[in-house]
Amino acid sequence: MKQLVKINDLTNSTHQKQCLIISKSIFGDLYHDISFFEPKKNIISLVALKNEMAVGFLIAHFINTKKIKLDCVGVSKKFQKQKVGTQLMYYFIKNKLSDSVKIVAHAWKNKDGINAQNLNIKFGLKPILNLGKIWVNECNKSFKCPYYKGRCTCESIEFSS
Ligand SMILES: CC(C)(COP(=O)(O)OP(=O)(O)OC[C@H]1O[C@@H](n2cnc3c(N)ncnc32)[C@H](O)[C@@H]1OP(=O)(O)O)[C@@H](O)C(=O)NCCC(=O)NCCS
Repeated sequence: MKQLVKINDLTNSTHQKQCLIISKSIFGDLYHDISFFEPKKNIISLVALKNEMAVGFLIAHFINTKKIKLDCVGVSKKFQKQKVGTQLMYYFIKNKLSDSVKIVAHAWKNKDGINAQNLNIKFGLKPILNLGKIWVNECNKSFKCPYYKGRCTCESIEFSS
């Protein structure tokens, strides 16, 4: 199958800035800052590139040697539903993890459903717990949430492999 994007480690500072712009457009202003996209110990950060421009990212951190938390997968609106998220997840699992590592992820649920549900399920992650409105104290205070409707409306669903 022809791949729409190229997946790289997110080490280039221009790509990190482009990822921050994508984050603002899908998660809202101030949800992430540039440090979220900078390389760190025990962090896996990947970027999806189309013509050398970032169009998506995947960031995860090792909780311990057997468990990794998928912090965030984001794809710019124009490139969503074209398998960029699938390519990022596939690369992450195939090239960065051994089979024995368990993946956990928190996906948000709003009135339209769970954005990352199909992507998570496709890669063997199952919903195991509804953690409720974990963002209620920060939502539209420390970051500007695109889903804020006079109150925080999103719940967090924990997925695990
Ligand atoms: C969730 C997201 C990362 C998926 O990336 P993507 O490149 O659009 O995903 P793909 O095209 O590879 O599709 C993967 C599956 O998810 C489904 N999907 C994609 N976007 C979806 C959405 N917004 N709502 C529901 N399902 C969606 C597709 O139908 C697909 O399933 P299929 O392969 O069985 O048809 C992307 O839509 C996104 O960035 N959303 C906003 C941010 C977000 O919710 N991030 C996850 C939480 S951190």
